[in-house]
Amino acid sequence: MTQDELKQAVAQAAADYVAEHLPEGAILGVGTGSTANLFIAALAPIKHRLGGAVASSEATRQRLEALGIPVVDMNDVERLSIYVDGADEIDSGMSMIKGGGGAQTREKIVAAGADTFVCIADASKRVPVLGRFPLPVEVIPMATRQVARQLAALGGTPKLREGFTTDNGNVILDVHGLSITDPLATETAINQMVGVVTNGLFAARGADLLLLGTETGVQRFSRTGQ
Ligand code: 5RP
Repeated sequence: MTQDELKQAVAQAAADYVAEHLPEGAILGVGTGSTANLFIAALAPIKHRLGGAVASSEATRQRLEALGIPVVDMNDVERLSIYVDGADEIDSGMSMIKGGGGAQTREKIVAAGADTFVCIADASKRVPVLGRFPLPVEVIPMATRQVARQLAALGGTPKLREGFTTDNGNVILDVHGLSITDPLATETAINQMVGVVTNGLFAARGADLLLLGTETGVQRFSRTGQ
């Protein structure tokens, strides 16, 4: 199977999960990226069951609205029961690197407001140790150089994502060459750097359920092991 076919399979599995578990009329949290885009398309047959969706990016907002799903402001939502999103890497502890699409800040906000984070990914995203994928760090532009120096002191090689501005008006430093053996410690350390808005490590709030697209079908992994 191609990577796109594996993504399609997990997108459909996530839509089935939503159909089964999201209360009728509830608001759904929706992520960003190519896998999330396939998930949005797979929502079409059940969109009438949704009260609306919170979008983790402007791109996702546009796709949801194009499908006729009302987009709700996060500030108007008390709590989401389900958030579905992709990942760039995920380890066996359900910690992730996200932000390949530069949307990790809003993704983290939506994930923090959700009871269940469902990660949808093809098998290539499952790794023993996070860090082969460059870690995206969103930075307020005037702090770029000083944050880059601190990231280099952690052992990484930060590179400015050229020609890219986040939905929040900031820049992204992609940090190459990190081997992240303690994702929570690294997430916390980078968050302490003044000028960092959010880094793409999702360890403090990892995934609860992973739907992983493999050659033998969609495999389910749960944080609780059930
Ligand atoms: C965007 C993200 C995406 O979830 C991540 O980049 C995975 O994308 P794709 O599904 O295209 O592989 O974090 O900021």
